[in-house]
Amino acid sequence: MRRRLIVGVTGASGAVLALETLRQLAEAEVETHLVVSAGARMTIAHELGPGGLGRLTALADHAHSPRNLAAPIASGSFRTEGMVVVPCSMRSLAAMAHGLGDNLLTRAADVVLKERRRLVVAPREAPLHEGHLEAMLRLARLGAVIAPPVPPFYARAATIEDMVREIAARLVNWAGVDPGARMTRWGENPVGRP
Ligand SMILES: Cc1cc2nc3c(=O)[nH]c(=O)nc-3n(C[C@H](O)[C@H](O)[C@H](O)COP(=O)(O)O)c2cc1C
Repeated sequence: MRRRLIVGVTGASGAVLALETLRQLAEAEVETHLVVSAGARMTIAHELGPGGLGRLTALADHAHSPRNLAAPIASGSFRTEGMVVVPCSMRSLAAMAHGLGDNLLTRAADVVLKERRRLVVAPREAPLHEGHLEAMLRLARLGAVIAPPVPPFYARAATIEDMVREIAARLVNWAGVDPGARMTRWGENPVGRP
């Protein structure tokens, strides 16, 4: 069986990170199940242009409607290694922290947590109020990896594309897939030249 991961995309800024994460998972031959929230349709169109959703969907092996609560990934009996939520809005973060399976994305995340699989969440908002921080703490205590998409400046990326690749590579890495040379590792590959 191919390795299988769920990728959730929500309406936080950073659609390009979702695109790059899906690209890296496709290159690693991981089977991906994509769920794009209703909120994400707006941010994707704004940040990636009108063809953005199509580009994301084309990179995934399967794309599910957030309204389809009968999709395979809504059940723990469907085997996956986990899920990456990138970028993650404060709305979806709060829903996941409180076990609200109100759409397929949050339901799939809840399944990943209850099955003790890997949930990597890349929340994007600034500044953060106490409610955001409480939701992150709660989700971390449930076992999620809270991985805000902060730039690893030590990688000395020359372009925004390089930095996006480095950030996405870290999410892929935390999801249990080796991103190879896309991720600069301190003391391993030469800094600035992945
Ligand atoms: C252009 C744009 C950028 C946004 N950026 C963020 C963001 O960075 N973080 C966030 O939590 N919400 C952001 N929002 C608001 C969310 O899209 C909104 O709260 C939405 O209801 C989230 O729903 P979802 O979690 O189902 O995707 C943004 C909205 C727009 C239109």
